[in-house]
Amino acid sequence: MGVLVTGGTGFIGSNLVHRLVAENEETHVLDNLSSGKLESLERVKGNPKFYFHKADLLQRENLSLPRDCKTIYHLAANPEVRVGFTNPEVHFSQNVVTTFNLLEAARKIDAETLLFTSTSTVYGDARAMPTPEDYSPLEPISMYGASKLACESIMISYAHTYGMRTIIYRLANIIGADSTHGVIFDFVNKLLNDPSRLEVLGDGTQNKSYLHISDCISAMLVGQGASRERVSVYNVGSQDQIEVRDIAKAVVEAMDMQSTKLEFTGGVDNGRGWKGDVKNMLLDVSKILGLGWEPRYGSVEAVRLTAKELARGVAYQK
Ligand SMILES: NC(=O)c1ccc[n+]([C@@H]2O[C@H](COP(=O)([O-])OP(=O)(O)OC[C@H]3O[C@@H](n4cnc5c(N)ncnc54)[C@H](O)[C@@H]3O)[C@@H](O)[C@H]2O)c1
Repeated sequence: MGVLVTGGTGFIGSNLVHRLVAENEETHVLDNLSSGKLESLERVKGNPKFYFHKADLLQRENLSLPRDCKTIYHLAANPEVRVGFTNPEVHFSQNVVTTFNLLEAARKIDAETLLFTSTSTVYGDARAMPTPEDYSPLEPISMYGASKLACESIMISYAHTYGMRTIIYRLANIIGADSTHGVIFDFVNKLLNDPSRLEVLGDGTQNKSYLHISDCISAMLVGQGASRERVSVYNVGSQDQIEVRDIAKAVVEAMDMQSTKLEFTGGVDNGRGWKGDVKNMLLDVSKILGLGWEPRYGSVEAVRLTAKELARGVAYQK
């Protein structure tokens, strides 16, 4: 039986696909290449276990999934939280409508297990820190968080109605050398354009949990192997936090640009980077740790590692 990964050419997806192919799984990728690139899967190209299908999840009429894929990792989405402020419809269509279309297609091939990359932003400004999975009320403060929470609900209803098993991962900020968006990626690119100054959105005290991509993939595979319930929800993050101003310093240091001046915009709503930016995030990950998941890096180490990797990677490509 095969495994299907939607969004498999993106940052998290391509790392997952490499791991699945390395484990000898017949791996199918469905992606419209809107932000992902086929080059991210260069290493598995030509492998007899790897198949690529160019398709857009918004085009329901043309959507047909490989029949033998009983396990589906659904990662395709627009992950840019900031976009939702200027154009909320992007997250409604790219996240909610696409998920509904995928579920309808999955139902037709009798898919058995659906795994979904949700987000810590479903908790909004949670008052309990670290925040457990059963925290309520769930009040997302961004359209991105709201769209992912809507997807979770729809997937859960499909699990109960059509007998699929559903595993939901509420991910912290995932970072790594090949990331294509997010704070470290932004900082590295800004510094390459102008090493004299680094603009930091907000007041720099936004304090969040960051997880290295390698630990994210291992958590997803542990969750898949160990979950027995019809619906399982796991927080996936590191057990510490780092402030944005310390991320800025780590990136400047990794790029050997110590004379760079940090310039804080001050932000909105008490120092947030943008409307909808959660200021303080730390997930209670005891549930997934209880399954035997062992992350290798904390937030601070993951940020330093990624900053160094990104700094080297970008310099190398140039
Ligand atoms: N990166 C993070 O920090 C983070 C944190 C929490 C949750 N997530 C979630 O994890 C998933 C992957 O995130 P990522 O960082 O790898 O993002 P990404 O942008 O790198 O990957 C998304 C992929 O989905 C594809 N895609 C988008 N719309 C599509 C459509 N309509 N049809 C087919 N393919 C489509 C894109 O081409 C891309 O390859 C997303 O669901 C995101 O919301 C990411």
